[in-house]
Formats: sequence, structure tokens, C-alpha cells
Amino acid sequence: MNYRHAYHAGNFADVHKHMFLVALIRYLQRKPTPLVCLDSHAGRGIYDLSTREAQSTLEFRQGVGKICHAEQREHPWLRDYHQLLQDWRKSTGLVEGYPGSPAWVAQLLRTQDRQILLEKHPEEAEALRQWARHHAQCALHQRDGYEGIYGLIPPREKRGIVLVDPPYESEEDEFSKLIPALARWVRRWPEGVYMLWLPIKEQQQLERIVRFLRQEQWPERIDKVLLAECSVHATDNALALNGSALLLINPPWTFAEEAAVAQQELWSLLSPAGMGRHAVRWIDLQERKRR
Ligand SMILES: C[S@@+](CC[C@H](N)C(=O)[O-])C[C@H]1O[C@@H](n2cnc3c(N)ncnc32)[C@H](O)[C@@H]1O
Repeated sequence: MNYRHAYHAGNFADVHKHMFLVALIRYLQRKPTPLVCLDSHAGRGIYDLSTREAQSTLEFRQGVGKICHAEQREHPWLRDYHQLLQDWRKSTGLVEGYPGSPAWVAQLLRTQDRQILLEKHPEEAEALRQWARHHAQCALHQRDGYEGIYGLIPPREKRGIVLVDPPYESEEDEFSKLIPALARWVRRWPEGVYMLWLPIKEQQQLERIVRFLRQEQWPERIDKVLLAECSVHATDNALALNGSALLLINPPWTFAEEAAVAQQELWSLLSPAGMGRHAVRWIDLQERKRR
């Protein structure tokens, strides 16, 4: 467990993930009924981009930096992301700060909503605990996210999102835990909305994950999942993070159409020279059985 998100906070993958997370919560909040947001790999909650860690990689310049310096942000998802970031920086006084997923979600919670955070690393969990002390609607569990989520679903609200954002330190190892865990959760709570972040290094690797997904036992009603890919470099180098992908199970009605338009603008800001690619597509999970 050497991974520290402080080196990567605010990079292009964070922007992609957090813009989608905000949009997803906004969609689900169109109904007044309570909502719960579960985060299996929560990180430390907030990040300071002036620290040695962030400054040693400067990854945030290619992510949130590009969004903040853009002359225009047209799509409502991008405008919302940017406005929330500005509001958060102003209200916390962290002008060089960047919110982690718990802080993005906390900004959006209504009085009837709550957030449950899981983080295994002792130091990250301690930092998160300090942050959560000031956020009454957030509960924290210092434990393994894969085991922890299973015990927390279905939540009493019956409506909610599970964000799954592992570090992928050893990819094969992570996928071997992650995909069976996701399938178990979906069998236990098929109505939940799940958003899983995936790294894109080589394009074939993403296709391999799709094959792994098809091998799992999914409930009949989960026949398709949505995959949103945003690559900012050619996807041909197994050693570099070239793109960010989000796999969504049970996204809200019409989310896919809007995601394609929002992601296109995001990609054009993150990759002004046109490197990489972007796509939003449905994956048929039951394809193997239908053949
Ligand atoms: C990519 S970071 C999370 C970033 C965060 N979701 C965000 O968007 O701000 C992954 C986190 O997972 C934690 N972690 C690693 N293995 C874990 C496990 N088995 N269960 C829970 N957390 C774990 C790491 O310590 C790290 O803080």
C-alpha cells in the first residue's frame, strides 16, 4: 500500500471522474427522496497542490489547471464542476487546494442525504477522519473497501451511488479482487448506481477488462453497462497513464447522451492538440450467453 493520491490529485483522471460524479449526484437529486453515496477507496478527503508531493509531479497542471485556465466552459457539467471548485476554494480558504471525492460529494449533500467513506491506509484514514469531523453527514470506516461495501448494502435509503476508485498498484491483483467484488455487490443490491474508475494504458487492456466483466454472473436486469473513455495520449504504452475510463452500472435515463457531449468538451480542453480519443459506449454484459 504505497499509493498516495497527493501525487496525482487534480490530474486529468481526477477531473474526468469528479465531473462525472457531480453530474451523477445532480441527476439522482432530481428526486427529493434520500440518497446515500458510498466511496470504497476514499483517499484523504482534501489535497493541497502546493505540497512537495503535488509539486513533484505537477500532474494537476494537465488536469484541473487546464479547466481553470480555459477561456470558455460551455457544457453545464463543466461549468458546474468549475463553479463548485471555485466555491469550495473560497469557502475553505484553500486557494491552492483540490477536493477529493469525499469533499466533492459533501458539497452536494442535502439534509436528507449522507455519505459513507472507506479508506484502508492508516495515514490517509487519519487525515480523512480529521476532515470528516467537520462533516456531520459523513461516516468513516477505516477498512478494506471491497469487504466493507458488501456489509453496507443495500442501504436503508434504497437509493444511492457506490464510487469505486482503487489505486491499481498491482493491476492484475486489483482486477482479480475488484471485478468479483463488484459482481457480488450488484447481485446483493441490483438497484444501486455504481461508478468504477479504470486506468487506460493500452487499449487492449481495457478490452481485456470488458472480457473479465462478461465472465461474471450478473443479475438478468443488468444487461448493459456504460463505459466512458477519455484518453489524452495514444493508448499504446503499458507504463503510462494515457487515459481515464469510467464504468457505470445503472446510470440514470438520458445520462449517456449528455455524458457524450460533456466528455467531448472536457477532452478538447484536456487534449488541445487532439491526442488520444474519447468515447461513450454501452457494453453488453450478457453477450456471451446470447451467442
Ligand atoms: C485513487 S485513491 C482515491 C481517491 C479518491 N477516491 C478521490 O477521488 O479523491 C485510492 C485510495 O484507496 C486507498 N486504498 C488502497 N487499498 C484499499 C483498500 N483495499 N480498501 C480501501 N482503500 C484502499 C489508498 O490508500 C488511496 O487513498
